[in-house]
Amino acid sequence: MSVELTHREDCAVLTLNRPEALNALSVAILGQIGEAFDAVARSKARALIITGAGNKAFCAGADIKEFRHQAMMDCKTRTELGQATFAKLDTLPIASIAVINGYAFGGGLELALACTFRLALPNAKLGQPEIKLGTIPGYGGTQRLPRLIGEARALELILTGRTVDAAEAERIGLVNRIVNGDAVDAGVAFAREFTCYSLPVLAFARGAVQRALDLPIDAGLKVEADLSTLSFQTRDADEGAAAFAEKRKARFVDA
Ligand code: CAA
Repeated sequence: MSVELTHREDCAVLTLNRPEALNALSVAILGQIGEAFDAVARSKARALIITGAGNKAFCAGADIKEFRHQAMMDCKTRTELGQATFAKLDTLPIASIAVINGYAFGGGLELALACTFRLALPNAKLGQPEIKLGTIPGYGGTQRLPRLIGEARALELILTGRTVDAAEAERIGLVNRIVNGDAVDAGVAFAREFTCYSLPVLAFARGAVQRALDLPIDAGLKVEADLSTLSFQTRDADEGAAAFAEKRKARFVDA
């Protein structure tokens, strides 16, 4: 399999496993990724970590060797498959963390952009080089990149196709942090900072923030009021307030 799904502690770990092609995304691999996301959604995992096999690449993008002599409708089908596959991360009930261990180019960066968080190892190199191939990002990059780093920086990266190193990626907010050591260990350590909290309440928080950039402020505030009210209906909100009053650590039950 070119996609491996394993578990570490309470995290699911999806590893793109095609190192001989720098983990490039063939259409078949996109299908495997979608199936893996569905399996994660059904599992008891409290976070999903995505990384690439080998020490050279997270993912070098769509499989360029599949581009030649591609009929227009095949191209549209492939693009829509890539978009729909990565969009599954938005509806996943748990947060996802891309640990970028080398190249994250084109569709590889777009996969990372679709995750809730991005961590970069010091050797990370990120970019949307599609313009050099005579095309544009097709798996969500033109939409998610400006939402994350702003229109001007997104346009610069997409129109020049230039590569950003880990330090610049952290400075412009393209990644949350630079991490060291083993990619999965780093992802699990980051996940531990939030997986101890109530899963439904984490999902409410993600849901509210996800809507922030899509809705006018008054509609977004209404979403926040509704989800905040819903969070107060959980047993975990009762437990949180009780634990505060009793000066002890809360014991959440995900309900
Ligand atoms: N598709 C298919 N194969 C790829 C690939 C890709 N995106 N990226 C690398 N490979 C393959 C290479 O062809 C090579 O295979 P062979 O040994 O059989 O020739 C192998 O991986 C190793 O690659 P290199 O020898 O090129 O390694 P390098 O260290 O010299 O260079 C690199 C690394 C700079 C990342 C270079 O491989 C590269 O530029 N790759 C293409 C990156 C790219 O343009 N990505 C965007 C794709 S388009 C896209 O993703 C569109 C979209 O929005 C969905």
